[in-house]
Amino acid sequence: MLDKIKSHISKVSSFSAQTGEELESFRIKYLGKKGILADMFEQFKNTPNEQKKETGQKLNNLKQLIQEKYNIFKTSLSASSEKIQESDLTKPAFPIYSGSRHPVSIVRKEIIDIFSRLGFTVSEGPEIEDDNHVFTKLNFAPEHPARDMQDTFYIKRQSYEDSSPEDILLRTHTSSVQVRVMERQQPPIRTISPGRVFRNEAISARAHCIFHQVEGLYIDENVSFADLKQTLLFFSREMFGKETRIRLRPSYFPFTEPSAEMDVSCKICGGKGCNICKYTGWLEILGCGMVHPNVLEACGIDSKKYTGFAFGMGIERLAMLKYQINDLRLYFENDIRFLEQFKAAF
Ligand code: DAH
Repeated sequence: MLDKIKSHISKVSSFSAQTGEELESFRIKYLGKKGILADMFEQFKNTPNEQKKETGQKLNNLKQLIQEKYNIFKTSLSASSEKIQESDLTKPAFPIYSGSRHPVSIVRKEIIDIFSRLGFTVSEGPEIEDDNHVFTKLNFAPEHPARDMQDTFYIKRQSYEDSSPEDILLRTHTSSVQVRVMERQQPPIRTISPGRVFRNEAISARAHCIFHQVEGLYIDENVSFADLKQTLLFFSREMFGKETRIRLRPSYFPFTEPSAEMDVSCKICGGKGCNICKYTGWLEILGCGMVHPNVLEACGIDSKKYTGFAFGMGIERLAMLKYQINDLRLYFENDIRFLEQFKAAF
């Protein structure tokens, strides 16, 4: 009897089950009603008294071992069958969280797409600029208020009394890029320059010290104000819809003559008047004009031979009109609840 128990102990110790069926036949073989264990306990009754103690202990050891083996394989096999269920390929997929583009990026891309269909290239320039490219070559008079410390962030100023073309500053507009393009390239020039600009403004719903602009520049022989108007009309209709109308109001910029500001008919009310357009039916979206001959000459372009137009617009402002965003600060706070709303756009 003791030998039998010993041999079963070693068999059970080395037992392992790969499948549920293997484990089940192990259970029936050892733990079943007519199984080995039941049979041995039956035989135990006939064991001589002097062997009962030792045989009983060994038999209990065997029983415990069988039980433990069975439990171990039962839990491990049922865990792996759950795993198989987890990777069930017929199950519907988990939704994948997708991010969204920032509204400024969406609108910038849209502006670039529209102008590239008209043959405009994209050019970039530095954010840290000198006074020469931001002001002097753009025909700003030395005492122009835009050069004031209250409007411009200076990095290095030659003197605090007067401004100098060598002053280093953060560009206040992307018009500086048109200077850089003209300096290195002769006409025909047809380019747009998207970029970040900086102004020393108190942050509020309507003003921010950082924002984005797109500058446009077109220079060739015989470029006229009619070309400017037609280009802007095309852009406005692509951007705001086929029914959009534009109007140009006389304005002043040092770097253009004549200068104008352009309004588009309000898309929300169709020009009838609403609180978005302050009941005027029009929304101002950009500044523009014919490039001043002084600017062409300062950048090495013959103003007798060439003429051209320029325009500049704020991307945040366009996105505000497009998506009816009413606070500039939302663009910079990175609040996920705001950003998530642009998922449908691309
Ligand atoms: N640079 C101007 C600004 O920041 C915008 C602008 C107006 C750009 C007229 C132009 C232009 O090129 O012709 O307000």
